[in-house]
Amino acid sequence: MQGYYAVQAIFLLGFSIIVTIIFLAPNKRRKNNLKGIFNLWDVIRYGLIRHLGKPNFEVMKTFEGTFGPVFMQNYSSHETLCVMDIGLAKKLMSRSVFANRLPGNHIFYHRSNKKAWGPLFGDFKRNERVSTQRFEHDDPHGHELHQYFHHWQQKFNFGSSIVSIFNWLRHIPKLTEHDSWIEGHQKLFEIFQTIIKEKQVTKAYMDKPQDCIDYFLQKMSLQDSNNIDDSKGNVLTEEIILVTCADLFIAGSVNISYELEFAILFMALYPSVQGKVQDEIDSIIGSNNSVPLLNSKNLMVYTEATTLEILRYSSIIGMLARSSVEDARINEIPVSKDTTIAINIFGIHFSSRIWEDPAEFKPERFLNAGGTAIVNQDKIIPFGYGKRRCFGESAARSTFFLFYTSLLQKFTFSISPNHGPPSLENLVGIAKSPKPYFVTVKERLNGIS
Ligand code: HEM
Repeated sequence: MQGYYAVQAIFLLGFSIIVTIIFLAPNKRRKNNLKGIFNLWDVIRYGLIRHLGKPNFEVMKTFEGTFGPVFMQNYSSHETLCVMDIGLAKKLMSRSVFANRLPGNHIFYHRSNKKAWGPLFGDFKRNERVSTQRFEHDDPHGHELHQYFHHWQQKFNFGSSIVSIFNWLRHIPKLTEHDSWIEGHQKLFEIFQTIIKEKQVTKAYMDKPQDCIDYFLQKMSLQDSNNIDDSKGNVLTEEIILVTCADLFIAGSVNISYELEFAILFMALYPSVQGKVQDEIDSIIGSNNSVPLLNSKNLMVYTEATTLEILRYSSIIGMLARSSVEDARINEIPVSKDTTIAINIFGIHFSSRIWEDPAEFKPERFLNAGGTAIVNQDKIIPFGYGKRRCFGESAARSTFFLFYTSLLQKFTFSISPNHGPPSLENLVGIAKSPKPYFVTVKERLNGIS
């Protein structure tokens, strides 16, 4: 019995020492003069706990009033420089020294055996730029992947989830979304492994490579036959192919459809905007069976302004993460190696320092006084900026234009009398989408709804 009390006393003593260190010890990692959240005491006094589970970009925005548009979060497993200033954000993103994705202790690493692989989450120097595989509509692999990923990506709220704050919690099984993160990757890897195995049966990629997986397999097999050595770490392996495919799928699969879902929602809520876009479509593309083509895009100024406002308002990637490759300085702020740099796209897009009435949906903010030219486009960064700007940006912009104009050429969207106005609330995961909603769809004939 005495032994039991001794163990309990030692445990309590140890626990008290740890708590004292965490709460009272000055934070040794405070390396610049920026304000912010530096230890557990700050977490409590600034009420961070009540924000747990909320989207990280919204939580960060609530601290803009207290700390300003640039501040630190040093209480968790990694130091984070939080940026909501468009000038500083662009300056940071333009420099290679801030072009890594995430420091080594972050959960993104644990899907690929702690290696910084893949175009999306990998380090800058290893960032392979490749084209993507095309799935036909009736392809079971493509359909399965899309459905699975739509649900899977909604589980993640990086930055304000408990495992992002306390990285070590990932070691406790089933406690955090870390397990789902790994399981989701396993599932993606299995699907791509099946595709790779099928391709390896015929080896058609040796003569006629059709897509990026074919090119990878061809390169991998040539490596094998030439017996290349991996001393420089440049050898292509099946593991790298799998991580690359998973990243391209994560980045490219749902974003454009989410953007179109937002577009339809805004058109139903703002019929006068929809009418002006339709007038422009009718006069420049035509109202009947003429198919929208990309060469009309530059002539359609109001449609472009509306697209920019959809991109600003939806901010489907609310926050992007970079990290510093080595110790560096920016605007006299020292930034140590492996600091996470959180660029709050949502915060910038809704900042009242930049925008008048940011909560209003107003395409006119992107038009000059005469409505003849685009302005203010440089104040939004929906696709990021600089060295690691979105790889799919031009495909995404073109695809969006073609679908958006085709839909408004043929249909008019309005609030459903049975369901009322759709909510502006979002589902937040890796990307943000609208909550499921109902609208009335009316066919347009010869430009008349
Ligand atoms: C409306 C659609 C899309 C939006 C809003 C979007 C947004 C973004 C953002 C904000 C980033 C981070 C950029 C940075 O760090 O500066 C990014 C990166 C990336 N996106 Fe997109 N994206 C979209 C569609 C796509 C598509 C269709 C693909 C096609 C595969 C794609 C592939 C990528 C890749 C590979 C990266 C990582 C680039 C790198 O780290 O070097 N994205 N995207």
